[in-house]
Amino acid sequence: STPRLIDGFGRSIDYLRVSVTDRCDLRCTYCLPEGFKGFEEPAHWLSHTQMARLVRLFVGLGVAKVRLTGGEPLLRRGLTTLVRDIAAIPNLRDLSLSTNATQLTRHAQALKQAGVQRLNVSLDTLSKACFASITGRDKLDHVLAGLAAARAAGFTPIKLNMVVQAGVNDRDVDTMVHYALENGFVLRLIETMPIGATGQAAAYLDLSALGERVAAEFGLSPETNSGNRAPARYWRDAAGQLSFGVITPVSQHFCEACNRVRLGVDGTLYLCLGQNDKLELGRMLRAGADDATLSAAIIDAIARKPERHHFNETPDQVVRFMSQTGG
Ligand code: GTP
Ligand code: 5AD
Ligand code: SF4
Repeated sequence: STPRLIDGFGRSIDYLRVSVTDRCDLRCTYCLPEGFKGFEEPAHWLSHTQMARLVRLFVGLGVAKVRLTGGEPLLRRGLTTLVRDIAAIPNLRDLSLSTNATQLTRHAQALKQAGVQRLNVSLDTLSKACFASITGRDKLDHVLAGLAAARAAGFTPIKLNMVVQAGVNDRDVDTMVHYALENGFVLRLIETMPIGATGQAAAYLDLSALGERVAAEFGLSPETNSGNRAPARYWRDAAGQLSFGVITPVSQHFCEACNRVRLGVDGTLYLCLGQNDKLELGRMLRAGADDATLSAAIIDAIARKPERHHFNETPDQVVRFMSQTGG
């Protein structure tokens, strides 16, 4: 359908990220503090029917790509049914999922059959000890088995998201590149973002030069397709396959090309990852708003989407944790 979500800076919004739960079975140090108790009340969560209804409205307004996130989306009961309902929405071109893969062995095939087209998996290291110290849980083996299951189920591409922290896992980059190239995964290195107290405490490393260094070392050529509005910059291997990328929200922000907004599990629409601007769509929906009212409110909200994040320029601005919006 024709794009109707144009923000005040002329950016057309065609990508919606939907957090289906804010819970997670891991406690990544840059995302959630150990012992975190500030989760949304499940009573405020959108039901599957409400989620699918909102996604349908967004697609009606021109959204063509939807990504399911968490927290950890596989912890949401009945996720496969929700996937099926969303995948059936006419004019939705791309349905993807971001997961930590600890439970993917059990779900990979069903998710593929239900209509998930692409998977992004969070993986910061291949060392058991390092994995346990970053995530607070000894589950690396589950993740690697999950990745193998995802490959067997036929997902392509499978992207690996590696948040690189200075002195924590930056020495694992080469090992991860080898592992990704061998297995046909697209590895992406991500800078830590100062979101929530945990994100601010992360050991930030500027990745703007590391990408070039790795690409040279592994003989990769830069991806030149400039039509790409996603945050990653990519390189290709000798066979021309996308194989490696960097996401540098802090050192080289990509906000002028932003194409996305986020829906929290309680129906809050977050207009920017790095800002608090929002629309309480869930509250309107629970109060009985009809589709036309909700769509009009969405159009109005997009018009006031912030120009960009201001990480490190205005401290403590974003009070939510990353697990509320799934990155
Ligand atoms: P593709 O659709 O496969 O390109 O995925 P994606 O990059 O949209 O999704 P993914 O969930 O894998 O995001 C990877 C990481 O990029 C996230 O965890 C964030 O760290 C970062 N990121 C994604 N969107 C934004 C954004 O709008 N702003 C900022 N600052 N970072 C973002
Ligand atoms: N900075 C950057 N990325 C983060 N993620 C979670 N917290 C942060 C942070 N503070 C990423 C994870 C995962 C995605 C869902 O969000 O690596 O890939
Ligand atoms: Fe869970 Fe992902 Fe946050 Fe780690 S980064 S605690 S896997 S939601």
